[in-house]
Amino acid sequence: MACQREDELQELVDEARKIAYEGKVANYIPALQKQNPEVLSCAITYPNGKCVSAGDINQSFSLQSISKIITLAIVLMDYGVDHVFHKVGMEPTGDPFNSIVKLETSSQAKPLNPMINAGALAVTSMIKGKNAEEKVEYILKFVRKLCNDPDITYCNDVAISEFTTSFLNRSLCYYMKGGGVIHGNVEEIMEVYTKHCAISMNSLHLANVGAVFAMNGVNPVTGERVMPKEVARICKTFMVTCGMYNASGEFAIKIGIPAKSGVSGGIMCSVPGRFGIGIFGPPLNDIGNSHTGMKLLELLQEKYDLSMF
Ligand code: DON
Repeated sequence: MACQREDELQELVDEARKIAYEGKVANYIPALQKQNPEVLSCAITYPNGKCVSAGDINQSFSLQSISKIITLAIVLMDYGVDHVFHKVGMEPTGDPFNSIVKLETSSQAKPLNPMINAGALAVTSMIKGKNAEEKVEYILKFVRKLCNDPDITYCNDVAISEFTTSFLNRSLCYYMKGGGVIHGNVEEIMEVYTKHCAISMNSLHLANVGAVFAMNGVNPVTGERVMPKEVARICKTFMVTCGMYNASGEFAIKIGIPAKSGVSGGIMCSVPGRFGIGIFGPPLNDIGNSHTGMKLLELLQEKYDLSMF
């Protein structure tokens, strides 16, 4: 069991918050620059649906790269393992999340995994729907089920801010289109991608999403199976090998649990059979992971022995 008491969790949140100004809030997506570095929240959801939380838990944030796990789960359910892994690989890169370099050196512009931007864009290109609106709605419908909240939507300001500045992601798309890995209209793929990255929730929601993956695809609150066990297993495995960008190896050694982070400062963890964690702390370290969130996970690991290994 991890933390069962909100006062104990609040102490760790207060401790981690002390280093807020050692990190830097993401600014390459202009809308994220406005985030308050001192905000820090954490929620832990257990298999019985019980949730322990502390800090600024009502503060919403955009999922950014955490949404890559969700879109991966959707395409695995819709197309199956063989089709998806024909388009995108299974190997960590060791490069920054937005790097283009491996597209040129790998065969036919196939991205190495679905957690880097290139891989996630290839996954987004597979989402079902007649147009961008339908595709975004399809993703949101699934996210609402994962969060038990019918009001979940995306933040339009964040989506537009990224859509109008995201030239590198467009380049990744065109490179992959040239290599025959993705088809379709790049602007539409970019619209769907930036909107799913801008899906907004708080750490209570995120802990529930983490718990669904931890519970092999069963929602701990409703008891509903929302994805097959196999899909949850593959997503958790990617969280271990590539979820914390090119710090995934260090994270596996130091914390030892499946986790996925996003540049807004969110971290989702899914500890198999034990609990889901949702964290939000906007200042980032050099790699792009939440600086205060990482500190909090180190404190949780020290106190409650989170590691699976
Ligand atoms: O594509 C981007 O740069 C952002 N929407 C998400 C980046 C992020 O969170 C880190 N990526 N793995």
